[in-house]
Amino acid sequence: MSDPVVDPKVMDEIVSLCKRRGFIFPSSDIYGGLASAWDYGPLGSELKNRVQRFWWREMTQIHENIVGLDASIMMHPRVWEASGHVENFDDLLVEDTVTNERFRFDHLTQEQQESMTSPAGNPLSAPRKFNLMFKTNLGPVEDTASTIFLRPETAQGIYVNFKNVVQTTRVKVPFGIAQVGKAFRNEIVTKNFIFRTCEFEQMEMQYFVHPSEDEKWFDYWREQRMAYYEKLGIRMDRLRWQEHGPDELAHYAKAAYDIEYLFPFGWSELEGVHNRTDFDLSRHSEFSGKDLTYLDDEKKERFLPYIVETSAGLTRSVLMVLADAYEKEQVGENDVRTVLHFHPAVAPITIGVFPLVKKDGLADLAREIERDLREDFSTFYDQGGAIGRRYRRQDEIGTPFCITVDYDTKEDQTVTLRFRDSMEQVRVPVSEIATRIREEIKSYKRTSDS
Ligand code: GAP
Repeated sequence: MSDPVVDPKVMDEIVSLCKRRGFIFPSSDIYGGLASAWDYGPLGSELKNRVQRFWWREMTQIHENIVGLDASIMMHPRVWEASGHVENFDDLLVEDTVTNERFRFDHLTQEQQESMTSPAGNPLSAPRKFNLMFKTNLGPVEDTASTIFLRPETAQGIYVNFKNVVQTTRVKVPFGIAQVGKAFRNEIVTKNFIFRTCEFEQMEMQYFVHPSEDEKWFDYWREQRMAYYEKLGIRMDRLRWQEHGPDELAHYAKAAYDIEYLFPFGWSELEGVHNRTDFDLSRHSEFSGKDLTYLDDEKKERFLPYIVETSAGLTRSVLMVLADAYEKEQVGENDVRTVLHFHPAVAPITIGVFPLVKKDGLADLAREIERDLREDFSTFYDQGGAIGRRYRRQDEIGTPFCITVDYDTKEDQTVTLRFRDSMEQVRVPVSEIATRIREEIKSYKRTSDS
């Protein structure tokens, strides 16, 4: 089956919509922005929080043997020696000798690499190694003893807390530790909006297993992670697996697969599932001098667990959710609407509430209904402009349900419930709105496709 057709121009439309409607702004905008840094606005921060919560619920609530952690960004510098990042976390940097534009060597085509020419056809400088970790100093004295790194992945915070978690909870191998947080990489090339940035967020889960069961759990987590994206309402023909070849494997991995998404700029990595063996725990044992083996009380067996890691970018997931949801849809013969088909569980606003007109007590009635719903849902009240335009404003920010209060509401206590995707409208008793919307969220399936 051939890939769905994507249009690179859509990226510009998404960036523009994000700025116009308050999802994502350039960082330090009033100073002209900072390359590759972005701020999440009122709708963007809601969207990001909800994507994070969706992942957190899936990983910790649905799986009873996964616990959470929130480790510090700044860690002991020895952590990064043990992890191999000081030695190995490099990219090869090359420069166009005419324009001085920089490239990651591995991002060039094979032909460009072999002929050592840039995409513009100019000679390239010799490749040189570039460590991606950001260095800073802890305390007022800037010397090597005070040098620390901003963590380039959240995973290490989990490994160094493995013993703490085993000792303070009742978890038994196999079990997982989940964490969401910021990570920093001094990327040579940042591009495609929030896809690759120097400051980003990860959602990682490390699953500790018996060494004899690593392949079983690796397969299990691959299956679980793909199923997760289906639950999130992502179009499955835009997701695929990409296996890392032997020369692509990270220094810690025995096997690795990426989940790739078909972004408007092409297939690109969204998440990695890695079999990290006992590399991390054995290195931290060695460098810290602490015994990180696990004792299986029942089998009276002591061993160093293997780790199966699922590592997704949160900020990259937000871009994926936006790209997957975005559609410019033909309505009738002469009309086009912009709509974001977010899964209702991650939409920044769940319900828009409107009075048909402001007068005759309809605004007060709509306000009262909105106030009641606000206890359980994220709502937005809007009484400005024609009702059709109010619907379109909510479509553009992905609000899945809108409720209109009209003259009949006063008579029979029903409202119009309008669905974003199908634009279908039904009458619902006011007393049943909350139950109906909860059911709609649970059974949501995207009905429209671009
Ligand atoms: N702990 C393993 C690890 O960090 P990775 O493949 O380097 O593995 C995992 O990163 C995920 O983090 C990627 O699949 C991507 O979603 C996200 N990610 C990595 N670098 C990123 C960057 N510069 N900007 C945004 N997201 C990034």
